[in-house]
Amino acid sequence: MKRHLLWILVPLFGGSAWAQPSFTADIKPLLQKQCQGCHNPAGASSGLDVTTYTAFAKGGKRGPGFVAGKASESLTIRYIAGAMKPRMPLGQPEMAAADVDRFRAWIDAGAKDDSPVEVLDNSPTVYLQPPVITALRWSPDGQRIAVSGNREVLVHMADGSKLVQRLAGKAERILSIAYSADGKTLIAGGGTPAQFGEVQIWDAGAGKLQHTARLTNDTLFGASIAPDGSRVAVGATDNTVHVFETASGKELYKIGNHENWVLGSVFAVDSKRFVSVSKDRAAKVIDAASGAFLENVNVLRTELTSIARHPKKDVVVIGGEDRYPYVYNMDRPKNMKIADDTTLIRKLDRQDGPIFSLDWSSDATRIAVAGIAPSVNIYDAETGKLSAQCKGHSAGIYAAAFSPDGKKLATGGFDGKIRIYDAANCTLLTSFIPAPLSAGTPAGGAK
Ligand code: HEC
Repeated sequence: MKRHLLWILVPLFGGSAWAQPSFTADIKPLLQKQCQGCHNPAGASSGLDVTTYTAFAKGGKRGPGFVAGKASESLTIRYIAGAMKPRMPLGQPEMAAADVDRFRAWIDAGAKDDSPVEVLDNSPTVYLQPPVITALRWSPDGQRIAVSGNREVLVHMADGSKLVQRLAGKAERILSIAYSADGKTLIAGGGTPAQFGEVQIWDAGAGKLQHTARLTNDTLFGASIAPDGSRVAVGATDNTVHVFETASGKELYKIGNHENWVLGSVFAVDSKRFVSVSKDRAAKVIDAASGAFLENVNVLRTELTSIARHPKKDVVVIGGEDRYPYVYNMDRPKNMKIADDTTLIRKLDRQDGPIFSLDWSSDATRIAVAGIAPSVNIYDAETGKLSAQCKGHSAGIYAAAFSPDGKKLATGGFDGKIRIYDAANCTLLTSFIPAPLSAGTPAGGAK
């Protein structure tokens, strides 16, 4: 903030030395906005990645990105000022003269790296109050519930009796959690806003981080794992879905069919395809092996935030801003890429607020719908009728998941409390705060 203020003052004072441009405050935002789309680790045009200072300094095929102290000899300046062709940013309007000057001034002043130093502190997060719950999943044996915490995934006994694991990563926020079908792998997707997105692949039994990958400059959304465990898909704010090989943690490809943030994903029953949903309103079927776009699922209506699949069929329920959950067949009979509504099976009731979380019970009988409304609605998946309404939350519910036997529903959201309901009638069975609150804070405790 300070730096930006200084920049506003520069013209007034004629650009005095104390107001040198900062990499973090002045240069990085320009790179993120105008260059990163083509110069990132997954797609480095001409070998150049500008997502970190180090990679930018290292440069591309023709040499370092810049020569500290010598703007006129720096590749970046030569490309953005038009001395070298094609002019950068490629295919976009020329960079504003003031921004080119800013780049020059930063390089001439020594191209200093003032990127924030990573938090190396590995001490456990201290919770003074229950953190908002943004993701939760039951382990496939039904014994545990993995819940988002701050900079970690909290694994709790499902009966609320004990916190059993704290899976600490670097991402400040965890926005999605998923278990592999055999329960051996847990994946978490999230990130630190405006800095990086992170996918974590954990050995769920040992509580050991096996692979972690950082991508983009913002949090990731809607991570899912294939039923056969082979692949992980995650949505990003660069409008793409990134797909990883679970065993190696390697990114296989990213797919850019969406026109806005990708917020949810789910694999088909046979693991060979997946569907992604986006703020661009589309749900798209992708070939999981090649990343090829196959077809659109829905007619465009509203921003989509969430998706869940029938446990045994390629039928999905999608939902978002317009508050209606829509149940669709994943596939169309003919290879019709323009979606019509012939594959819409059912539209459920309008909710009292935008939808954030959907789940389909593993016995296929129920669909849970949660969001901004203070109650979770459970529908009979066969008839589409409301079968129960789980109350007790004071505000937004960002995560809802059925137990593996389909008999219970766990919810979490703004108030930081996990509530476990009988899925048949929404009787509250238990509730607890999964985060280990430090002493002296009001705990809230059991129901
Ligand atoms: C639409 C894609 C695209 C965007 C956006 C873009 N570039 Fe490029 N950039 C390329 C391509 C393609 C090349 C290779 C050009 C060639 O060799 O003909 C390249 C080459 C370069 C090179 C030379 C790297 C080397 O060592 O060969 C630099 C430096 C560069 N770009 C800087 C930038 C900067 C700075 C921005 C943002 C202001 C930017 N680019 C935006 C696509 C892009």
